Amino acid sequence: MPTSKPKVKSPGQAIDLQDEPEQILNLIEWEEKARAVLPLMAYDYYAGGCNDEESVKRNRGIFNEILIRPRMLCDVSRRALSVELLGQKISMPVIVAPTAFQKLAHEKGELATAQAARQADTIMTVSTLATTAMEEVAAVAPHHLWFQLYIYKNREITKDLVARAAAAGYKALVVTVDSPILGRRERDIRNAFHLPQHLSAANLVGQGLGEIGRADNHSGLAAHIAALYDHSLTWDMLDWIVSISKLPVLVKGILRGDDALLALEHGARGIIVSNHGGRQIDTAVSPIEVLPEIVKAVGSRSEILVDGGIRRGTDIFKALALGARAVLIGRPVLWALATGGGEGVARCLEMLRQELDLTMALSGCATTADITPDMVKIPQHMAPL
Ligand code: FNR
Ligand code: LAC
Repeated sequence: MPTSKPKVKSPGQAIDLQDEPEQILNLIEWEEKARAVLPLMAYDYYAGGCNDEESVKRNRGIFNEILIRPRMLCDVSRRALSVELLGQKISMPVIVAPTAFQKLAHEKGELATAQAARQADTIMTVSTLATTAMEEVAAVAPHHLWFQLYIYKNREITKDLVARAAAAGYKALVVTVDSPILGRRERDIRNAFHLPQHLSAANLVGQGLGEIGRADNHSGLAAHIAALYDHSLTWDMLDWIVSISKLPVLVKGILRGDDALLALEHGARGIIVSNHGGRQIDTAVSPIEVLPEIVKAVGSRSEILVDGGIRRGTDIFKALALGARAVLIGRPVLWALATGGGEGVARCLEMLRQELDLTMALSGCATTADITPDMVKIPQHMAPL
């Protein structure tokens, strides 16, 4: 096997991972590879959190406080990882979280990620702030997409995004509720984050809002959001979204049982328990530690998904044991995209599939339905309220 350094000529250019299969063994190592190829402004935007980035660290660290209680001698010779989400069967309980501006990672951006999700037979959630128009993404993965929606003050813009998502064949809307304003991302302030001239927030170009330009001593993204998002949102917004679209709605960014109940009362079909990857409010609780509270509050009335810090098959296993139907993966997809394009993302998803499969085999679970709450031991502070 060649052991030479990755053959990277310029940022965003794909490494042929086939040449060096031994180089990246897990998702955590992947970030280092990506850091080496990405310009600092892009790397910092992807990697960063808000303030002191304590929630970013906690999202990862908390998984070590949850322990697996494996069962022995259960016949695990045939294992099935598939799950159903909103009536759609997918090959494993891992989907791609919405992340903005994927062309900062690779020239093919969202198209490459969507192709990889389709290949893995799972779902990609396309961000409102994608650098590829949602219709173009839909053309390469027509059955594997959800659309993540941000609510613009100008309701015509919001309505237009919702209508376009339905027309393009997206299967669900993911309404992100944790970002009326952007969290304080000091790396982006320092780097004066903006999109280079040749990239745009492609879904908003028709509205004249595609440019994420430079803001003086500030993040251009924070400026876009401060100027255009609706900061006065209440739960009525959700009733409105549900009333203007036939697509099922999931609410992303819930961290409390009472909010999860409100989301259902206002028409949501699913809850995504998330602290936005530690990017919005620092020292917020980590999603995995509030999952038991949320599952207790809403029970089987809703699809419950969780994201934040999921990097290992054991993390996915723990999330399922605590009641999640599936997990979402954010940053690792960007690291894989930056270093390996669509093939990298496909391989990243495959790694998670294999790690989950191994975890199931070693803990006596042949199917995802076998991953019941007794399969884990949680610390006292995670007990449902
Ligand atoms: C995000 N996230 C996000 N969420 C969302 O609803 N809309 C968006 O456009 C974005 N954009 C975005 C960009 C980047 C660079 C990151 C890292 C994250 C949050 C994302 O969907 C998810 O909640 C977290 O990334 C999950 O945590 P991990 O897997 O990154 O630890
Ligand atoms: C972010 C936004 C776009 O986390 O959701 O950067």
